[in-house]
Amino acid sequence: MRLAQRVTGLDASPTAALIPLMRDLREKGQDVINLAIGEPAFATPAPVLTATVQALQGGFTRYDATGGVAALRAKLAAAFEGLGAENIVVTNGAKQALFSIFQAICDAGDEVILPVPCWVSFAAQIRLAGAEPVSVPCRSDHQLDLAAIERVIGPRTRAIIVNSPNNPTGAVYPRQTFQALAALAQANDLWIIADEAYRDFVYSPRKPFSAWSLSELRDRLIVVRSFSKTAAMTGFRVGYLAASGDLPRALEGLQSHLCGNVCTFVQHGALAASEELPWMKSWLAELDDLRRFALAQTRSLFECTEPRGAFYLFPDVRRRLAPGQGSGDFALDLLRQTGVATVPGEAFGAPGHLRICYAVGREKLADAFQRLRKSL
Ligand SMILES: Cc1ncc(COP(=O)(O)O)c(C=O)c1O
Repeated sequence: MRLAQRVTGLDASPTAALIPLMRDLREKGQDVINLAIGEPAFATPAPVLTATVQALQGGFTRYDATGGVAALRAKLAAAFEGLGAENIVVTNGAKQALFSIFQAICDAGDEVILPVPCWVSFAAQIRLAGAEPVSVPCRSDHQLDLAAIERVIGPRTRAIIVNSPNNPTGAVYPRQTFQALAALAQANDLWIIADEAYRDFVYSPRKPFSAWSLSELRDRLIVVRSFSKTAAMTGFRVGYLAASGDLPRALEGLQSHLCGNVCTFVQHGALAASEELPWMKSWLAELDDLRRFALAQTRSLFECTEPRGAFYLFPDVRRRLAPGQGSGDFALDLLRQTGVATVPGEAFGAPGHLRICYAVGREKLADAFQRLRKSL
């Protein structure tokens, strides 16, 4: 039967070949080390589990308000000066928040500026909204190229995406970058979509920063956050967005026809996580240690800019590639030869790179780098 172009035109994930190969190698008894994951290896904190189970047993198993459980929305809104519970929409992960945002702000033929390298789903989500992603390469230090962004702004541009700390590069943008983006957005009547999924994963001396702290940006800013990484809740699927004006109500309308409310008892678990994140201090200390170790190891093999946030390294592997070899093939070869899985840069719009997740623990990381060094 015929399928719609909307789905047949979707790019197959560049990581699709990795998963069956990892399974195959494991079945053959190879010890695969997965540095391709996009989540920290920490256990979900006990208060989150307890609150979820209590909510489940306490009868929070029914439909609730589309935009989210009232107590959770109110608590989340308190972190956004000037906003109330009605400005928050709780979504099935940051992923659904972003999907819905593009549906709500783009018409056919509109354009969204997408600095690359970038998270794997942005381009597909923009296209599914009938719009076109306009990729703008970042500078070699992974910071935004603001002049290049300004050059591609045109009459169909609707929004600029900014993801800091960044997946896959780990770059953290300074306040001045957001100020410059605010000026561009104001001058050209654009939305700024700030993906803050990794907001809390920032290493000293940097401090977590939210685009919401720029008051001049607030009437055209949409902030997207998630419990996935900050509370090791990737499987719970809870994220949210915050915005002023009419957008949250429009998104609630969209969500009412798409999925209704996010799983009710899971939102009660998220409520326990939205308090102080007391685990974050020890997580960050451990991750910072892993970051330094992984960076030193990676730099002995490839060129790599130091990441200041998130939990990824994004080395440039071009000088290791055989003639005609892309980083996709390189990642597959590494996996076959060493059992170490990484994500090729093609997945993020930046061929010639690999994404390495270091949030896997010291022992695995040391083993992985030993294997890579031996093979390379
Ligand atoms: C930059 C970025 N945005 C959004 C998401 C989606 O996160 P969630 O699990 O909340 O849907 C991810 C997940 O890896 C991400 O890396």
